[in-house]
Amino acid sequence: MGLHRTNEFFQCLFGAVFHHRKIDSLIGSVAHNSRHGVLPVSEYYSTRLSAEQLERCYKLAPPRILRYLQAELDFVADQVGPFDLVLELGCGYGRVLNRICREAGDLVGIDVSGESLEYAVRYIDCNGSVQLSQMNAVSLAFDDDIFDVVFCIQNGISAFGVDPTELVRESLRVTRPNGFCLFSSYSDKIWEERLEWFSIQSEAGLVGEIDWTKTEKGLIVCKDGFTATTFREDDFRELAIELEFEAHLIEIDESSLFCCIEKGT
Ligand SMILES: C[S@@+](CC[C@H](N)C(=O)[O-])C[C@H]1O[C@@H](n2cnc3c(N)ncnc32)[C@H](O)[C@@H]1O
Repeated sequence: MGLHRTNEFFQCLFGAVFHHRKIDSLIGSVAHNSRHGVLPVSEYYSTRLSAEQLERCYKLAPPRILRYLQAELDFVADQVGPFDLVLELGCGYGRVLNRICREAGDLVGIDVSGESLEYAVRYIDCNGSVQLSQMNAVSLAFDDDIFDVVFCIQNGISAFGVDPTELVRESLRVTRPNGFCLFSSYSDKIWEERLEWFSIQSEAGLVGEIDWTKTEKGLIVCKDGFTATTFREDDFRELAIELEFEAHLIEIDESSLFCCIEKGT
């Protein structure tokens, strides 16, 4: 499914909620920006880990991981206000958007997986304004300075397999002056439980078999080549120096590490 068809498809489904002025201008930029094609979707997310399969990963989470997920969601929900225009990068099937649509004004979710976005249309049960578009987080089809809040959680800064500098730079580009971006990664303190959760997913056939000879703290390697890494405090600090922003790092629940970046004026 191509970008334009997908955008029209989702805009059509959610069309009734597009009355907000900021959203109108945003749709204009999506529809008319031709430099952004659909970029190749990482194989896992387009084939094995989209839509229902991705939802199954979350359903298989053991209790400590459920607590981590809840704490991460609650933190994001606390950061958004009722009049905010909020963008989630890598929104998947809408797990987070569905949770925060009660708190936020207008929500936009983008993902490279068309299957996940189609599933999100059915999954998100919300009376508010939600727009979904198929896009790559490092080449967003939005104008500069639009969103009040841009967030990318679940270690997306590592998991997307893109250049973190490009990801943060692009996120800041679409954030309005005085708005902010949120990125979350895993705290090392939840490593054992994270690995256990990954093993459960592997045993369920959702991800490949773990290569225990190459897996070590902060790094999970599967025999089929899939790797899951960790973006740590030092990585955020290095990025902050490179892109000249102040990194506010907050650990939540001894499980997530959030990096909050306020965009200057
Ligand atoms: C671990 S899932 C998290 C989904 C959602 N944020 C959540 O917490 O439920 C990562 C998502 O990022 C998407 N993704 C991967 N690479 C991406 C990219 N370069 N741009 C946008 N989305 C991407 C995948 O398709 C997948 O839906």
